[in-house]
Amino acid sequence: MSNAPQIVTTVAELRHRIKALRQDGAKIGLVPTMGALHAGHLSLTRQITNHADVVVVSIFVNPTQFAPHEDFDRYPRTLMADAEKLGASGETDLIFAPQVTELYPNGFATRVEVKGPALGLEADVRPHFFSGVTTVVSKLLIAAMPDVAMFGEKDYQQLLVVRRMVEDLGLNIRILGAPIVRERDGLAMSSRNAYLSENERKIAGQLNVILQNLIAKVRDGMPIADAEESGKAAVLEAGFNSVDYLTLRDAETLAPLSSLERPARVLVAATVGSTRLLDNMAV
Ligand code: PAF
Repeated sequence: MSNAPQIVTTVAELRHRIKALRQDGAKIGLVPTMGALHAGHLSLTRQITNHADVVVVSIFVNPTQFAPHEDFDRYPRTLMADAEKLGASGETDLIFAPQVTELYPNGFATRVEVKGPALGLEADVRPHFFSGVTTVVSKLLIAAMPDVAMFGEKDYQQLLVVRRMVEDLGLNIRILGAPIVRERDGLAMSSRNAYLSENERKIAGQLNVILQNLIAKVRDGMPIADAEESGKAAVLEAGFNSVDYLTLRDAETLAPLSSLERPARVLVAATVGSTRLLDNMAV
């Protein structure tokens, strides 16, 4: 028998349920997702229980963060399987799974736009992406008004962008990041890994090794620009078709760094076959 959490589909129902849960003084935690849940997502629902009494997971494939040529149509939609997984892992109290028209009704004409950490890197390749994310995340946060929301560090730039937005909009919500969950060979878990063929999957598993090698070289004193160049060459040699960026940045601002005098993060985006993969690591 299924012990899957209840699914609500409207903002009104979500607010009603959260209001009732809050009356006992419960802290509300929100984990925004696009579904196709894997162990990485389940680690978010597990970790947020350290900060919240009630866990709400939103499952919504957000059209505004996809460009017309991207994978919105083929993005996996597995709501019932996701609900089963959340039920089996036992932390989630409520799922919010709205239809597109619930969040973007006819005539919707607003966009939330962040600059700062939203400039460069992903934005250079996917200019539409962050305003789509910040628009939907602000709507989800305003709908649920959680005490805390948790995002995976796999989308590290996204995490910094959401933090900036929440601070700038004065929302009283703590934004927490959770470490990347990796497969046995170190590949960062992602719903898009499902697109990989067997051979592409092998190639993909080398990305994290290349990042580790780059970090070792920089720590051994190799100039950052040289380490980035040799890292990019290694990604292509591994069988990726292209590298959008492989770069070492300030971990808080994402500004380029020429030396390791600040906490740093190495970030990569590369495409294998038709699948674009992201990864990053603390340096
Ligand atoms: O990281 C994601 O899955 C999405 O970008 C998010 C934060 C759920 C917004 O649609």
